[in-house]
Amino acid sequence: MARRRQLYEGKAKILFEGPEPGTLVQYFKDDATAFNAQKRGTITGKGVLNNRISEYLMQRLGEIGIPTHFIRRLNMREQLVREVEIIPLEVVVRNVAAGSLATRLGIQEGTRLPRSIIEYYYKNDALQDPMVSEEHITAFGWASTHDLDDIVQLTLRVNDFLSGLFLGVGITLVDFKLEFGRLWENDEMRIVLADEISPDNCRLWDAKTGEKMDKDRFRRDLGKVEEGYQEVARRLGILPEAGIRDLKGPEVMQ
Ligand SMILES: Nc1ncnc2c1ncn2[C@@H]1O[C@H](COP(=O)(O)OP(=O)(O)O)[C@@H](O)[C@H]1O
Ligand SMILES: [Mg+2]
Repeated sequence: MARRRQLYEGKAKILFEGPEPGTLVQYFKDDATAFNAQKRGTITGKGVLNNRISEYLMQRLGEIGIPTHFIRRLNMREQLVREVEIIPLEVVVRNVAAGSLATRLGIQEGTRLPRSIIEYYYKNDALQDPMVSEEHITAFGWASTHDLDDIVQLTLRVNDFLSGLFLGVGITLVDFKLEFGRLWENDEMRIVLADEISPDNCRLWDAKTGEKMDKDRFRRDLGKVEEGYQEVARRLGILPEAGIRDLKGPEVMQ
């Protein structure tokens, strides 16, 4: 196959020009970074698993009417997506205190929050993705109040749906990060879910034991990093070894 033109290489993925105008190919790498790329490493097989996990979650979200950039998976490491104008925000949802929230506010990690909390970070590596408020976002024109209304509505639906989906396979969705983009169709603009949803940007804990199955295993040198990602895919019933045409549904926990 003819090699595609590379448009961007990020920390976890490479973007190539897609086969049709308005499409992109996302290639999932095994590279892992943490703490704003101060820590770097490789998680063998991560790209394959994240490609598959993100495909699965975006498809399930599409089925409940969440607009996403996902078109189809092309192979083990690549998926075809609609090109969008990325809104430069990391939209974080938290259900249980962990990571920077636990540290900054002195809340014991693992404490269930009184309600789901949405936080925004300005997507800017040079500034180390600083936390921002709605005021900053609208004043600097990164998104309008109308865009933010859509983003909040979509984010809460994604959170409710994914919390239930993961709980059904014995996993607590502690927190996660989403990215959104603008998609124009004729003269209409829609906000759609973009980027990826995977153990790279979710905190996923075993619902019974609290064992971590996400990038914190890499961030905190907990070992068995590959196994954590694999276990998430296994519980969702989508380990690539099962074969594309032989996909099982989620394994329901007793
Ligand atoms: N549908 C899309 N259209 C355009 N850009 C996208 C789309 N989905 C994701 N992106 C962007 O592609 C990049 C994905 O590569 P990644 O390695 O995650 O980069 P980064 O290091 O910037 O996080 C991100 O910058 C993300 O915002
Ligand atoms: Mg990224």
